[in-house]
Amino acid sequence: LTSERYGVRRLPFSRVSDGDVAFFEQIMPGRVITNAEELKPFNVDWLKSVRGCSKLMLKPQTTAEVSEVLRYCYERNLAVNPQGGNTGLVGGSVPVFDEIILSTVLMNRITSFDKVSGILVCQAGCVLEKLNEYLEEQGFIMPLDLGAKGSCHIGGNVATNAGGLRLLRYGSLRGTVLGLEVVLADGSALDCLASLRKDNTGYDLKQLFIGSEGTLGVITAVSILCPQKPKSVNLAFLGCQSFAKVLETFATCRAMLGEILSAYEFMDEKCMELVERHLKLTSPVTDSPFYVLIETSGSNSTHDEEKLNNFLEQAMNSGLVTDGTVATDEKKIKMLWSLRERITEALTHDGYVYKYDISLPVGKLYDLVTDTRARLGPSAKSVVGYGHLGDGNLHLNVTAESYNHFLLDAIEPFVYEWTARYNGSISAEHGVGFKKKQFIQYSKPKEAVHLMQRFKAMLDPKGILNPYKMLPSSS
Ligand code: FAD
Ligand code: MLT
Ligand code: ZN
Repeated sequence: LTSERYGVRRLPFSRVSDGDVAFFEQIMPGRVITNAEELKPFNVDWLKSVRGCSKLMLKPQTTAEVSEVLRYCYERNLAVNPQGGNTGLVGGSVPVFDEIILSTVLMNRITSFDKVSGILVCQAGCVLEKLNEYLEEQGFIMPLDLGAKGSCHIGGNVATNAGGLRLLRYGSLRGTVLGLEVVLADGSALDCLASLRKDNTGYDLKQLFIGSEGTLGVITAVSILCPQKPKSVNLAFLGCQSFAKVLETFATCRAMLGEILSAYEFMDEKCMELVERHLKLTSPVTDSPFYVLIETSGSNSTHDEEKLNNFLEQAMNSGLVTDGTVATDEKKIKMLWSLRERITEALTHDGYVYKYDISLPVGKLYDLVTDTRARLGPSAKSVVGYGHLGDGNLHLNVTAESYNHFLLDAIEPFVYEWTARYNGSISAEHGVGFKKKQFIQYSKPKEAVHLMQRFKAMLDPKGILNPYKMLPSSS
């Protein structure tokens, strides 16, 4: 085993022995994976950009099993990498060296759903889309939605504090998650699985684990507040001639659609080219420099359609948008959403992807794309911008035929410095993981990072949980 990978040195954790494997086999027979071929997909991230060399994956089914595993690993000084659906985009979900992969794939039971309060309690390994389907049957939906819904787990969503396509309407998981059950590094289980809207008894400990990316504890169960399934959903897909018009359209639709606005997403023409070329999707509107996707969700289709039509009339007449299409039926809604949701997938067909997930004052959002494009010139294959405009969240992506460290040096720290200059965040929703941990100081003062390191040392004194991730090493 190499002791250095990606410029990081392996910390002095124990190595998994035959005795360790035998112990795990005894507590969870048949759910201990040591076969190299079987381990392969769990050692590489979704973007195929970072690879670990774990020799062991464990698949617990219960919180008690997670406790038992961690108690043992803590005792033996074995490093552990919690893993959900492995759709993370910052290299946090796969080991760097030989950390044990602790997968939530078999922790997929729904514990309860209260139709009066809309509160769902479930195990951490439930797949987001499955939860949404379950809720839809009862007239509810999950408060979050993302392109990775078919694979990502709710525990992974909470661990990354995932944002996604519905945040504009239902807010972040910091508001909708009501309680968590977490197993700490030493194996002790923390039951904060409250199902209460209001609870002001002491520090709100669950917040510490939301967005902690597997570094402070393993989330084993989640209690989450779910909204009613909207009775009427409309989608408009529109073309804009400039980014200034994208912004003005946002201001106008916020004013005219008010409470029924549920998503405002944007993509540039390069994104459209990529989804058309690589995924064979077709644009429903004439070529434009920018596209916006506006979703309304409400309870009265006549009222909602009238509002949307008034807005569209105003936007067209004032030249804010030059072309567009509207959908009310599920099939067309899905088709229009896929143009935006599948950009991530289209990018992977374009080549190696350098992915940036930036928060900025909304007026500055696209300048970063323009400046990066100008800086990189022909050394990049594509430089594209899309994202959750309504949340001030830009996804800047650069592609190249293959990984090239000269190109990386031209992008970083340029993008981070640019972001810091405008008081933005170098990670809006994807997290810090392995890839961005040395850049956290662009968005957090050193006192804040130091306090984070103290929390980490307190909750995980041996540092066995997701080492090499999120926080820069103390030295
Ligand atoms: P993983 O990738 O398995 O893990 C992510 C991190 O969480 C790792 O650090 C891991 O150690 C930790 N972790 C996982 N489970 C647990 C647990 N039970 N306890 C403790 N730690 C745990 N993200 C967004 O925010 N918004 C989007 O719109 C969005 N869209 C995406 C679209 C696509 C096509 C893809 C591939 C990804 C997208 N993502 C998005 C990123 C990713 O899907 C999210 O970060 C997601 O929340 C990760 O969930 P997961 O179960 O796959 O977690
Ligand atoms: C998205 O909004 O599409 C996701 O965050 C994934 C990505 O940034 O590519
Ligand atoms: Zn996103």
